[in-house]
Amino acid sequence: LSLDQIAKIRGGRYIGTATDVWIMEQDAPYKKITTSNEYSVWTPENTMKWETLQPQQGAFNFTEADKLVSLARKTGKKVRGHTLVWHSQLAPWVEAGNFSPAELKKITKNHVQTVARHFRGKIFHWDVVNEVFNEDGTLRDSVFSRAFGEDFIEWAFRWAHEADPHAKLYITDYNFEGDTPKTKAVTALVRKLKKKGVPVHGIGAQGHFILGNLDGEGMKRTWKTWSDDLKVDVAIAELDIRIPMPATPEKLAAQAADYETVTKNCLAVKRCVGITFWQWTDKYSWVPGVFTGEGAPLPYDEDLKRKPAFDAVKKVL
Ligand code: XIL
Repeated sequence: LSLDQIAKIRGGRYIGTATDVWIMEQDAPYKKITTSNEYSVWTPENTMKWETLQPQQGAFNFTEADKLVSLARKTGKKVRGHTLVWHSQLAPWVEAGNFSPAELKKITKNHVQTVARHFRGKIFHWDVVNEVFNEDGTLRDSVFSRAFGEDFIEWAFRWAHEADPHAKLYITDYNFEGDTPKTKAVTALVRKLKKKGVPVHGIGAQGHFILGNLDGEGMKRTWKTWSDDLKVDVAIAELDIRIPMPATPEKLAAQAADYETVTKNCLAVKRCVGITFWQWTDKYSWVPGVFTGEGAPLPYDEDLKRKPAFDAVKKVL
């Protein structure tokens, strides 16, 4: 059985991966595993970001994203839409335009609703807002927070829900895997939003870890609070565990233990709905390009061979 099949049978959860179609078009062995039943959920790694979907004001380009959604449907995958409102990989015109708050509100609503409407019925989770907090729990500075304070968060959820009422709507961030000011801040925010009737259905912990730096107990405690007290779904949305290179057998074993911890924590949380790897092979990981001296964060190596991390996840699922 595949990882996804085991996860489904054992607890109704899914295993997914980030990918994009252009990679599959140039790498047949990669495509074979990506489209196989190892995964039942795909997240577009880059092709649904604002800079790709609306590179110029009013000029939407859904070509690459449509390819992903159609291949996903053909191969039986669900799609986690990623992401509607984010300060990063935002089209430059949004910041350069120096729009008034009223104009920026219209622009943001138009982006959220045009995109959510375009994919209506074909996206099972949307990451509605991504990375809106600082580590101390305050609101991150962005073109959106400068204009609207935190109000844009509530608006984005309402707009997305109106445009696609069936998608489950998520707030996502990194360092959402411990008992910290940042996770306390999202707990408080989601509690407040739910009280106001805002359609927020899930919290996504990205899960970009560094080998040996996991707070397993804090992670579990936090995710349980979200699941049992806030009564929202929890998704591990972008899991990878990077290693200070080179990746020795010892480090790969330690990495497998960390993968095991995260997987077990998801299984221990009632409303943890699934785990998505941020790509599944080291060959296409974003890590080496961004974190100098670190790499090999995924369950398959650069030759598409399974690593100890893969076996560890399979064992505990
Ligand atoms: C990353 C992609 O993996 C890279 O290819 C891209 O160059 C930058 O973005 N948090 C997120 C993801 O929410 O969208 C990011 O993806 C990784 C961090």
